[in-house]
Amino acid sequence: MKIIDTKPKPFQRSSCNIWTDPYIQKQMLQEHLNPETDGASRNWASILKIVDFINSHIRPTSHILDLGCGPGLYAELFRYQGHEITGIDFNKASIDYASQRRKDIRYIQDDYILHYPAGNYDAVMMIYCDMGTHSDQERDTLLRHIFDSLTEGGKLIFDVFTEELIKDKREERNWECSPSGGFWNDSKYLLLSQTFHHPKEKCFTYQYNLLTDDEIKHFIVWDRYYNEEEICTLLKNVGFKSCAVYKNMLDTNNFTSNHEMFVVAEK
Ligand SMILES: C[S@@+](CC[C@H](N)C(=O)[O-])C[C@H]1O[C@@H](n2cnc3c(N)ncnc32)[C@H](O)[C@@H]1O
Repeated sequence: MKIIDTKPKPFQRSSCNIWTDPYIQKQMLQEHLNPETDGASRNWASILKIVDFINSHIRPTSHILDLGCGPGLYAELFRYQGHEITGIDFNKASIDYASQRRKDIRYIQDDYILHYPAGNYDAVMMIYCDMGTHSDQERDTLLRHIFDSLTEGGKLIFDVFTEELIKDKREERNWECSPSGGFWNDSKYLLLSQTFHHPKEKCFTYQYNLLTDDEIKHFIVWDRYYNEEEICTLLKNVGFKSCAVYKNMLDTNNFTSNHEMFVVAEK
């Protein structure tokens, strides 16, 4: 194994995944559960705003599918309001935590790209810019699955970064040494981080080499950004009859960019 420092191809897969790595997935769970930060989930005030926003677009007692539900922060709030919820996430720590808290929410631990949870949903939600972490090909397959699983008049509600993301991100290289462990490993590690921009494909790639006593792990994460016209054209091509975009809904984000837009598409 060796350090990889070349620019990855857009949406190239890495051998390790930040959401399913046995150690990091538990750290992610702790990040989700911190109400103050915008780490793995947005801060609690933003979550409440997003729940109100989604509720204003769906019928009472809807069946909602939450793609990438994490530990069920949104799912629980919607369940309290009388909706039926299916949540899917491939982070085992998050799904174990969520399943133990509520038995009246259907949680699935799986990859929604590989195994889309078949069913009939009045609404499908995907929150915190996850649509932008998949390749265009995966996104198109996912959008078709979502469309097929929605009832007539059903809504797809998600957020993506806008083109203004380029104001907040830049190509760079950093390193971090943690002598007694931390977010990335339980004992000493060195983390080499690189950010690359792919302007043609409209995405940023974050590449991490994690060096520990035993091994080097390699992670890649992507952020694809869109403009309004592009995202609505994609949705209309899949068959959605309408697409509305909402910007500037949230206060400042203390972890990533808050140049995001919320998209509501109706079948
Ligand atoms: C940024 S977090 C957002 C979590 C949640 N939507 C929220 O806002 O609180 C992204 C979530 O999507 C999950 N995820 C990413 N890709 C996935 C996939 N292909 N299948 C299942 N879960 C996935 C991750 O494990 C993580 O919990």
